[in-house]
Amino acid sequence: MQMIKESDLKVLFEADRIQDAIEKLGSELNEIYADEELYLICVLKGSVMFMVDLSKHLKMPLKMEFIRLSSYGSGFSSTGKVNAVDISLPDLNGKNVLIIEDIIDTGHTAKFLVDFINLNFKAKSLKFCSLLDKKIKREVEIDADYYCFEVDDKFLVGYGLDYDGYYRNLPYIGYV
Ligand code: IMP
Ligand code: MG
Repeated sequence: MQMIKESDLKVLFEADRIQDAIEKLGSELNEIYADEELYLICVLKGSVMFMVDLSKHLKMPLKMEFIRLSSYGSGFSSTGKVNAVDISLPDLNGKNVLIIEDIIDTGHTAKFLVDFINLNFKAKSLKFCSLLDKKIKREVEIDADYYCFEVDDKFLVGYGLDYDGYYRNLPYIGYV
């Protein structure tokens, strides 16, 4: 495992640009859901920053749930195998559910989660919201209903995204 220095990172999205995009997405979601109750499902650990910042713009009555999935090992590429570390959820029958992810890469994680929720609950609505979408890497057929930025096939860190657990705390998104 090679260590990356923060000084070696190139900035892809500055903190302000991320926050502006999230505010815009928040307004869009406020219009879509209006005053309907919403369950946000935060996929830990990568989505924690996005979920927190997005939720501050949302005006409908909402609840936050946290689950933990992992698919990346500790390297640069997706394993394609999804590991459900903790997937305990409340009763989502009849609820509006919005999954919050940091990035959709191969799509295995997203598909696993959507299938899991559809298998276990009859939600009123189930939508997928991702900060980033690496469309070019998709291996399974799944798309984000809402996303902020489409990205190329680069390994990204920052704003929740990690390399071997590091760099989640950066307020911007960078690449090596
Ligand atoms: P997927 O199952 O291949 O779509 O992978 C989704 C998960 O892999 C995301 O939720 C991220 O946690 C992680 N991931 C994908 N691309 C990157 C990246 O460029 N940097 C860091 N983590 C990533
Ligand atoms: Mg993730």
